[in-house]
Amino acid sequence: MRTVLRLDHVSKSFGPVNVIHDVSVDVISGRVRVLLGENGAGKSTLIKMMSGIYHPDSGSVIVDGKSVELPTVKAAEAKGIATIHQELNLVPQMSVAENIMLGRTPSHGGLVSWSSMRAQARAALERIGLDVSVDRLVGSLSTAHQQLVEIARALSMDARVLILDEPTAALTRKESGQLFEVMDELKTNGVAMVFISHHLDEIPRVGDDVSVLRDGTLVAEVPASTSERELVTMMVGRDIDDQFPRHRGEIGDVVLSVKGLSREGAFHNVGFQLHAGEVLGLAGLVGAGRTEVLRAVAGADKYDSGAVSVRGKELPKGKISLAISQGIGHVPEERKSQGLVLGASVNENLGYATVKSTSRAGLVDRIGQRRRAENVAEKLKIRMASLDQPVRNLSGGNQQKVVIGRWILADSSILLLDEPTRGVDVGAKVEIYQLINAVTDAGGAVLMVSSELPEVIGMSDRILVMSHGRAMGILDAKTATEDAVMELAVASVDPVDEKPE
Ligand SMILES: Nc1ncnc2c1ncn2[C@@H]1O[C@H](COP(=O)(O)OP(=O)(O)OP(=O)(O)O)[C@@H](O)[C@H]1O
Ligand SMILES: [Mg+2]
Repeated sequence: MRTVLRLDHVSKSFGPVNVIHDVSVDVISGRVRVLLGENGAGKSTLIKMMSGIYHPDSGSVIVDGKSVELPTVKAAEAKGIATIHQELNLVPQMSVAENIMLGRTPSHGGLVSWSSMRAQARAALERIGLDVSVDRLVGSLSTAHQQLVEIARALSMDARVLILDEPTAALTRKESGQLFEVMDELKTNGVAMVFISHHLDEIPRVGDDVSVLRDGTLVAEVPASTSERELVTMMVGRDIDDQFPRHRGEIGDVVLSVKGLSREGAFHNVGFQLHAGEVLGLAGLVGAGRTEVLRAVAGADKYDSGAVSVRGKELPKGKISLAISQGIGHVPEERKSQGLVLGASVNENLGYATVKSTSRAGLVDRIGQRRRAENVAEKLKIRMASLDQPVRNLSGGNQQKVVIGRWILADSSILLLDEPTRGVDVGAKVEIYQLINAVTDAGGAVLMVSSELPEVIGMSDRILVMSHGRAMGILDAKTATEDAVMELAVASVDPVDEKPE
């Protein structure tokens, strides 16, 4: 056991905001160091100081016992430190092979050796069990597959230190399991790793040592075998008794009706009704068509046939602004590319869906708007320096809260949520669930895509399970089990084609 990399009493501020105070972390050969903390606690900032992106204001970075400067990412990589960042860093217009080998293109006498590049990329994909062509454009892959390409790239660097910032956030359990097997192998080979995740059950599976951060301060160092309950208490400073606090109240009239929705190659004859006061979960495997159906209902994409109606009024296809005016709010799967304007402020991002409705006589009521934005930010406990901070500078989980907050601000009565708690910490998850309750208590309705089975079962009233683009059945969430959902999710025959209720 040898400390390969150490952050020694580091502190870091951005302008007046002190984000990390006097934190020390040891990254040890053959061990996995877990960084645990709420959204905005400072986990990503810490690892960026290990990977040459940020530089500590005080304290030092120590590699192999010597204090070093890591002025650039390249300098860190030259020391054998590879990082998989929380947000994807791939070039969508380039192939899988080009992305994996980016900056390390093999050449022969000044010419790029494509065959050796493709072979090396293929070997990297094989290692994590990803079966896609190395010639595919990265932009055409699903989020999960892009994440796996990113992981393959880091692995192919033969790093001595591998840093993984929420690598499993967008992966299925099976894909995460595959990643953990690769991590086990790297451990045996003496690689030192840093691992961040909001899935607490993954900690005893892959972790060895846990550093718990709260508000930029190291509050505890404990073994990875520490119980989930204790870990939660250390990170949020309180106990969380009810993980899924769903209020199941009165179910009212149909507010959203979807009939015979089809789009070639994506979904076929999908129908369901969503009632006032109801949360309908959309479950299924990755690629089952859940996101596509949600996007079609939201007006984000067109469809070939079928109809979407809100309170009896048919919505035209592919018209987001009309959907919004009917009270629909859509939280997409990919917050960074689809949900946010990164350079704009928190205030502006929260206000995008509301600016029209708060204008009086053609004038935008900026003061009222700001007050309402402040209110929502407080409700969601969005951690930021001020409402004027660019969204780009918020932590990942806090960016997610901004996308959800926009629709709360707009008083949307029908929320379409796609993986709403991805990358969100355990405490903030409960806050998002309380907002879902507030929407349904007020007579609104929620359609929620989620790959987290406990969440779908815990927070829905009914669960529609999709497989291969078809609705396979609807389960009552009060009695549904994970097995029952999975059984429908993997079914390939006998879909229930639009069963009237
Ligand atoms: N470039 C920056 N400018 C200003 N503030 C920043 C910058 N980068 C990070 N911060 C702030 O530092 C704090 C810590 O952010 P960080 O991304 O490290 O959190 P995190 O623990 O990784 O959270 P999450 O679980 O949501 O990913 C946040 O309050 C964030 O707004
Ligand atoms: Mg982070």
